[in-house]
Amino acid sequence: MTGDSSRSLTEPHPAWLPDDAFAALGSRRVVVAGDGVLAGTVAEEVAAATARFGGSFSRLEAGDGVADAELVLTLAPSPGEASPVETADAGNGQVDGSFRFTREAGAVVVQARCDTGLLHGLFHVVRLGEAAFDGPDADETHAPATDLRMLDHWDNVAAHPVMGQVERGYSGGSIFYDNGFVRSDLSRVERYARLLAAVGINRVAINNVNVHEREAHLLTDDLGDVVRIAAVFRRWGIRVHLSVSFASPIVLGGLGTSDPLDPDVAHWWVRAAARVWDAIPDFGGFVVKADSEGQPGPFAYGRTHADGANMLAAAVEPYDGLIHWRAFVYDHKQDWRDRSTDRARAAHDHFHPLDGAFSDNVIVQVKYGPLDFQVREPVSPVLAAMPRTRIALELQVTQEYTGQQQHAVYLGPQWNEILDFRFWSADDAGSPTVADLATGRAKATEDPGTGTWHKPAGGFAAVSNAGDDEFWTGHPFAQANLYAYGRLCWDPTLDATALLDEWAGLTFPGAPEAVRQALHTVLDRSWETYEQHTSPLGVGFMVRPGHHYGPDVDGYEYTPWGTYHFADRDGIGVDRTARTGTGYAGQYPSPWRETYESAETCPDELLLFFHHVPYTHVLHSGSTVIQHIYDSHFAGVDGVERAIEAWSAVSPLVDQRLAERVSERFAEQLQNATEWRDQVNTYFLRKSGIPDERGRTIY
Ligand code: GCU
Repeated sequence: MTGDSSRSLTEPHPAWLPDDAFAALGSRRVVVAGDGVLAGTVAEEVAAATARFGGSFSRLEAGDGVADAELVLTLAPSPGEASPVETADAGNGQVDGSFRFTREAGAVVVQARCDTGLLHGLFHVVRLGEAAFDGPDADETHAPATDLRMLDHWDNVAAHPVMGQVERGYSGGSIFYDNGFVRSDLSRVERYARLLAAVGINRVAINNVNVHEREAHLLTDDLGDVVRIAAVFRRWGIRVHLSVSFASPIVLGGLGTSDPLDPDVAHWWVRAAARVWDAIPDFGGFVVKADSEGQPGPFAYGRTHADGANMLAAAVEPYDGLIHWRAFVYDHKQDWRDRSTDRARAAHDHFHPLDGAFSDNVIVQVKYGPLDFQVREPVSPVLAAMPRTRIALELQVTQEYTGQQQHAVYLGPQWNEILDFRFWSADDAGSPTVADLATGRAKATEDPGTGTWHKPAGGFAAVSNAGDDEFWTGHPFAQANLYAYGRLCWDPTLDATALLDEWAGLTFPGAPEAVRQALHTVLDRSWETYEQHTSPLGVGFMVRPGHHYGPDVDGYEYTPWGTYHFADRDGIGVDRTARTGTGYAGQYPSPWRETYESAETCPDELLLFFHHVPYTHVLHSGSTVIQHIYDSHFAGVDGVERAIEAWSAVSPLVDQRLAERVSERFAEQLQNATEWRDQVNTYFLRKSGIPDERGRTIY
């Protein structure tokens, strides 16, 4: 048996930090040397682990004798060591948290210039377990790819009448807020911060990007509560950010305008920022969703998004504060009859012309795809189109469109694909990847001024999937997504399958090998499985409007939201070509603009995103579009059945409460996948009149 079945009902699941994950470290003679808040946190962790597993712990001044220690975690350079750790610098000299790991005859030294490095070094040793001490002599430097490794919470202080306490939250309530108030007991936040620190997250935005009246007050009247939350995160090397309303000067300040060029507005923000940093000196900055889905913004005053962002940037600049300005700007009140407006174009249309206009402390935060976190979208061309702008890649860990944590869907493989995508080449390993663009390592190859470099890191941001649920994430396996996201922020080249092993090893310590194998069977291809039984070929959005769960093929077809599939009796898909369609394909640099432009070269998985084709169109796979729709939907449900079978065989070997939760979710997953299969297949059989060549049951 693995896991701790005796957990009390109020205790949250330990996720990837169960006590047993500390066994290797805790049974050794460990020294922690150095000062600072995080060195204190490291010392507490080591003291607890050594007390539990029979090792010993001493806290020394940096540089003190450590002769017989098996693990030394020290802030100072080792004696005689000239240059301890080369700070990895992604181009802006800011990357923090690096550490050096050396092993000599089984004795390990983790050495860091600053205490954040010490904390990350500690968790590196935890992840390695016995292997930290076992291997051959080693001398390695570890450093994050970017200093900007952020999670965004879409938590509301007051439960929203439609969206609830956490917008797109599938894990119970909020760990921060309860029914209109900031929680007085922040112990869940503390545990969460520890989990995040262990995977390398260092920034958290604590409220929803849709800032309602109640939440707006976090910036002013309720700043004291933000101070409390920031104090909890600080012990784990995590800085707090707030989402703010662009209309704050009106809502909170009583001004008649929030025009970014109005001096009173700018002054109001200068004073607001001064109060925030006075109360929280290491505060991170503001996240802004402006002119998007009803949120206020600079368009109301005829100003650009650069005008809006730069006004805020000036207010936070004295404190090294950041403005995360979201590029998710589109018309959500379009006329479905109008085939010329294309929501997919919107972010590029709005932001590409502003490249170079944003201040240095503005980060334009871009969703990975041009629509909205669909199971499959082409990578947003905005990421490549703003070489003079700091760009952050935004992912969605919460599974709004990928099964809402009822379905076991591991998103690591999707993120690998996105991070590894190369805009200027299909296969040249030297060409920059999306990860290079986000971490500031990419050369602006397509720019007129070739030879210039993309702006330094804008890093990564993602919508969190955690809540006050016993397992943090609703579906226990969704913990793997939170884990993988953090690790990929630290090193975007990590492989999703290997990360799943890491997560499984920590979360199910000592479990039989069969558990790990079953997790791979369930999760390795789960993203693909979900795509198969929902909306394959890049068609997207066939979900129920509003809550976005379950199938509704025409749910958004005649709505103002701009997410259409245009299926008729002859064919399906959106013509986004430059020649006959909306022109979206032309927003890509070569070679992708040509590749996507032609239905002959467009990859199958994105065909219907870029082209309207007859049902009889033959894919590269050799199948017709209609047959692919049928086959993939049957295959998707088969995939779910295989996953359930694999897990059933090992579920008695894990924590029984966890096993029960997983089996409840699997029952729902199978039912929902079946519903998807039958509704989508039936819809297209009726539309096209073309039977399944394999004669399976379609209704
Ligand atoms: C999606 C999601 C919204 C969210 C929005 C955003 O549209 O459904 O709930 O507010 O994305 O990213 O701002």
